[in-house]
Amino acid sequence: MDIKNNYRSADGELQIEISISSLYHGGITGAVIRMDDVTVIKKKDEKLSQAQMMDSIGNLAGGIAHDFNNVLSGITGTVSLLKHRLSKNELKQNDLEKFLNVIDDSGKRAVTLTRQILSLSRKDEMTLEPADLNEILRHVYNFCFHSFEKSIEIRADYYPEPARAAVDSTRIEQVILNLCINAGDSMTVMRPDNEKRGGTLNIGIERFPSGENSEPLPVEAESGRDYWKITVKDNGIGMDKKTMERIFEPFFTTKAKGRGTGLGLAMVYNIIHNHNGFINVSSDIGQGSLFSLYLPADKSGAIKQNKLQPDFKSGKGKILVIDDEESICDISKEILEYCGYEVTVEINPEAAVKRYSENEGGFACIILDLNMPKKNGFEVLRHIKADYPDAKVIISSGSISDEKMQTLSSAGADAFITKPYTLESLAKIVSDVIP
Ligand SMILES: Nc1ncnc2c1ncn2[C@@H]1O[C@H](COP(=O)(O)OP(=O)(O)OP(=O)(O)O)[C@@H](O)[C@H]1O
Ligand SMILES: [Mg+2]
Repeated sequence: MDIKNNYRSADGELQIEISISSLYHGGITGAVIRMDDVTVIKKKDEKLSQAQMMDSIGNLAGGIAHDFNNVLSGITGTVSLLKHRLSKNELKQNDLEKFLNVIDDSGKRAVTLTRQILSLSRKDEMTLEPADLNEILRHVYNFCFHSFEKSIEIRADYYPEPARAAVDSTRIEQVILNLCINAGDSMTVMRPDNEKRGGTLNIGIERFPSGENSEPLPVEAESGRDYWKITVKDNGIGMDKKTMERIFEPFFTTKAKGRGTGLGLAMVYNIIHNHNGFINVSSDIGQGSLFSLYLPADKSGAIKQNKLQPDFKSGKGKILVIDDEESICDISKEILEYCGYEVTVEINPEAAVKRYSENEGGFACIILDLNMPKKNGFEVLRHIKADYPDAKVIISSGSISDEKMQTLSSAGADAFITKPYTLESLAKIVSDVIP
């Protein structure tokens, strides 16, 4: 038997590798004990992994800065032009629409970017709800069918019954869509110029049972648990080994400038792992790629129907907005006043509590930011609810966990809204709380 272990001296200066091997010779049993000073080798290893980490952080920061700059250029450039032409009285209705569309698109791109970055960190909290994965695949299929080049044939194999799983539907849809877009690209824009564009995209779902006589589950799988296996297969350009090793790295892309950010698969990886699932990838250069996602299956549970809110609702009443970000206060005021409410904003949470008391709770509802430096939203909520238990409070935040929501609900929060707001989302939440 061989034993090998690493030891560090108390001051951490010296690292020794000790290996013990049994020895049998001429009827005598013994052991060989070998001690190697591996201090220098280990230090080099540590330095190397630190350097690699710094490298990927640098890569990440560079990528974020680059993409945000592009988004911001769209906004600041357009606003400066808008202001200038407005001062010269040269602005026509259709110019205004055009400029607003640029700002709107840039804003949406920034929201997608922050969502993608948040989904790379644990800060992005998910809401798991029972869903039918077939439905998610259908959405993705429809999107691809209408937006992909006609040179791509798309086939989908759904599960014959509802494919129930507790998932964050929006994120899983994002994941599958990302895989399909990559697959589509590999059969079109990534092909060399001398190759004919096109191919077949196969999307499928099957149950991966863990019972006896079933196909063996991959090593990462929890035994005794059923999984849904979702596959996205293309016959595009495929990947070599070196590319395969890096595909999940944030900002790794082999696509032409402006075509790919390299965040797609990093996000896919995080979302699937946050669902306690895993991913298998196989690919052959020139043949195509197969991405398989495994998600824990649910046996029962009601399936939530996604309701679409077609338009915004107007209403009446006084609203107090508490947020330390002036821009958020401004836009909330604009939106809510447009909806018919009377709005007071406060950037200082302590002053806000005072103002609420001075008004003897005269506000129909409060929109309260959760993360504020002086006094956080949770403290403000407790303060107000202690004196005015009937106060209606909507908590607003960039991302919020189920656990935090529970705690806040127990402390009296009536509803939650995630930033950034839109006219529709803000109007809906307020009209739900003060009908
Ligand atoms: N189906 C595929 N076929 C061939 N190569 C792929 C496939 N999927 C991913 N890749 C490779 O992995 C890289 C990283 O993919 P990822 O989705 O993370 O980023 P991207 O598609 O380049 O950019 P983004 O998704 O941010 O627009 C791609 O640039 C490509 O080289
Ligand atoms: Mg991608």
